[in-house]
Amino acid sequence: MPKTLAEVENVSTTNHRDIIEAPVLSNVAPTRKDRKGIMPNTLVDVESVSKSYQRNGLRIPVLENINLSVPEGEFLALMGPSGSGKSTLLNLIAGIDRPDAGNIIVANDDVTKLSESQMADWRAHHIGFIFQFYNLIPVLTAYENVELPLLLTKLSKRDRDEHVKTALSVVGLSDRMKHYPKQLSGGQQQRVAIARAIVADPTLIVADEPTGDLDKNSAVEILTLLERLNEEFNKTIIMVTHDQRAADKAHTIRHLDKGELQ
Ligand SMILES: Nc1ncnc2c1ncn2[C@@H]1O[C@H](COP(=O)(O)OP(=O)(O)OP(=O)(O)O)[C@@H](O)[C@H]1O
Ligand SMILES: [Mg+2]
Repeated sequence: MPKTLAEVENVSTTNHRDIIEAPVLSNVAPTRKDRKGIMPNTLVDVESVSKSYQRNGLRIPVLENINLSVPEGEFLALMGPSGSGKSTLLNLIAGIDRPDAGNIIVANDDVTKLSESQMADWRAHHIGFIFQFYNLIPVLTAYENVELPLLLTKLSKRDRDEHVKTALSVVGLSDRMKHYPKQLSGGQQQRVAIARAIVADPTLIVADEPTGDLDKNSAVEILTLLERLNEEFNKTIIMVTHDQRAADKAHTIRHLDKGELQ
């Protein structure tokens, strides 16, 4: 059975339900394994999306008429040569950038129709982003880095504390809460970044080369953690990677090349 993060910690989350959209890593939907042949709902629908950049007055097409449908509970790996537009596509799905044409529906919201301020709010509720170089704030402790996304919510200090400690416990770093990023290994920093990505219980986790800067053992640790978030907590994950071993952890692998998705 799927677990909530709160069950891991054996703490009650019922008092959060009216404050934050979902309690700490809630999971009411059945996991892929539980579904046994039931077609999962589509969580991400990229419809005829095109994106180009302007450079020196020239238009450089990056994505051309891309279609991608990602079911709820999926673990998808996106591969392709450098410069093929993987990060661009991920940023469009995560509401960090906008396409020139097409629609991107995530959890029934058309991300392309949101205003700038709606988009920031939407991202805070729906997206957990994991970057190649962790993107932790160096002057904040692991605890404070993980707490950061919750400062955008109405959660009380006490509730934030519960969420942060639970997220750090899931990534196995309860004993490193007061460490600063530079006092942690690369693998540990990426685990803090994952705790930060899951602390607000996002609908979708997007990861851009999450193991790209790690040694082999740390990479395996991070991939095992992502696999666990997918299988145990039913988190839908889209992961960009150059590493075939990382991609092999996913259920589905798609290749982006020359603006097209195969
Ligand atoms: N902000 C931008 N302005 C101009 N061009 C950009 C911008 N962002 C990306 N590009 C260009 O778009 C193309 C796709 O870039 P993108 O970062 O999506 O590739 P990628 O597949 O993620 O590559 P990598 O594997 O090296 O990370 C590249 O040619 C890049 O130079
Ligand atoms: Mg990239």
